Amino acid sequence: MLSATSPLPLSEKPSWLKAYRDFTHEHGFQPMRVEGRLPEDLKGTLVRVGPVTFGVGGQRYGHWFDGDGGAMAVRFAGGGARGAARLIDTPSIRAEREAGRVIYSNYGTAAPSLWRRLCGEVKNAANTSAMTWNGRLFALMESTIPTELSLEDLRPLGETTLDGAVGPAFSAHPHRVGSRRAAYNFGVRYGRVPLLDLYELPDSGPIRRMGSVPLPGLVMLHDFIATERHLVFFVSPVRIRIFRMMLGLGSISDNFDWRPELGTEVLVIPIDEPSKVMRFQAEPFHTWHFGNAFEQDGRIVVDSVRYPDFSSNKWLAEQMNGWATADAQGRLHRTTLDPKAGTLRTEQVSDRRCEFPGATPLLTGARHRYVYLAAHSGPEAWRGPQDAVVKVDMETGRETVVTLGREHYASEPVFIPRPGGSAEDDGWLLAQTYDATSDKTYVAVLDAKTPEAGPVARAWLDHFFPFTFHGTWVPA
Ligand SMILES: [Fe+2]
Repeated sequence: MLSATSPLPLSEKPSWLKAYRDFTHEHGFQPMRVEGRLPEDLKGTLVRVGPVTFGVGGQRYGHWFDGDGGAMAVRFAGGGARGAARLIDTPSIRAEREAGRVIYSNYGTAAPSLWRRLCGEVKNAANTSAMTWNGRLFALMESTIPTELSLEDLRPLGETTLDGAVGPAFSAHPHRVGSRRAAYNFGVRYGRVPLLDLYELPDSGPIRRMGSVPLPGLVMLHDFIATERHLVFFVSPVRIRIFRMMLGLGSISDNFDWRPELGTEVLVIPIDEPSKVMRFQAEPFHTWHFGNAFEQDGRIVVDSVRYPDFSSNKWLAEQMNGWATADAQGRLHRTTLDPKAGTLRTEQVSDRRCEFPGATPLLTGARHRYVYLAAHSGPEAWRGPQDAVVKVDMETGRETVVTLGREHYASEPVFIPRPGGSAEDDGWLLAQTYDATSDKTYVAVLDAKTPEAGPVARAWLDHFFPFTFHGTWVPA
């Protein structure tokens, strides 16, 4: 039987598996080769964060989510592009590199020492997303605190609790609500009564702890969504098997249990009165990511990628080893919540396997029409990484699917509004893409109005960069 450390025979290795090798080629901003023509008014920096080294001391980590973080950035100005790439260094990453072995527990990797498994801190791999706030840039990972990065050259500047304002956990999925001029985020605090800590990050001014809400058990929460008035959480029936964890058996990921009989609990939390939580039960489903949400006629409309169960966790673990026994079953859904009636109605929008939904940042928390995703181009493509960028018109159901080239694999597309634009889709989609044929990474620039025309430009690094999960746009 294959284990996390048993290599596949060469003949069975898919071409994209090379993108899951350790990245070491760090550099600051350097000119990039540009193919096509970059829009003159695209001015700012795309920052992407993901796992970029996949083991230490010869031991391969147990899950893609365990990879040590790295950041890449592309700075667009005056029709040109400059790219930077860095490894992110945290005290726990550094301690393992210096020791040449795994020391800490992480999502899918258990610490070798029983004491550390039971009592030790979890590793800060700083590998999931990038956030800018008050002119500062951070790499985030959901189980721990932020790591600040230099906006000048992406160098890591150290872990931070932002003067004690956040922690012990600050998730990798903050959501800004434009009309409130603030971003919101959460952290899960495990204990006898597991708690959901809520944070407000005003565009200017100090971070506010909004309060803590009891959770229905030892749950797994990756993302949430905000409207102009509410924070919405889908708490799926994934529970940690606490007795196995207390015996030191297996990693956190090994000990997640799918318990459909519990159903999914929906939490609707009023931003202005977080103690007045509305809770209701829905059928069992799991959600990793949300696109956007808004309120209409007393109802809350939520766009998210929904899974029938938690087998996607296995798909995600297998990706970095080139295996595919579990299917990636995420589909874009629109869910309408009626908090007063305590009901939920869900429609599947598309049968295409997809992930990383997003919308224009100008309408976060407000009604949007378009959702952008990374997706699988065909029914069998799920065996590899997402190989298409998709635009969905939520009003007509029209889906525009764009593949970027043979054996080109796209990460989450990020929508950048065109300055002075009027239509919602007036802007660009930026997608970090891995070309497995040349073993190089580029950022594709698509006109979001006509993505089917293909990239208007590609800004190439002269090397590969591993797939990243999430990113942010820093306007010039
Ligand atoms: Fe995520």
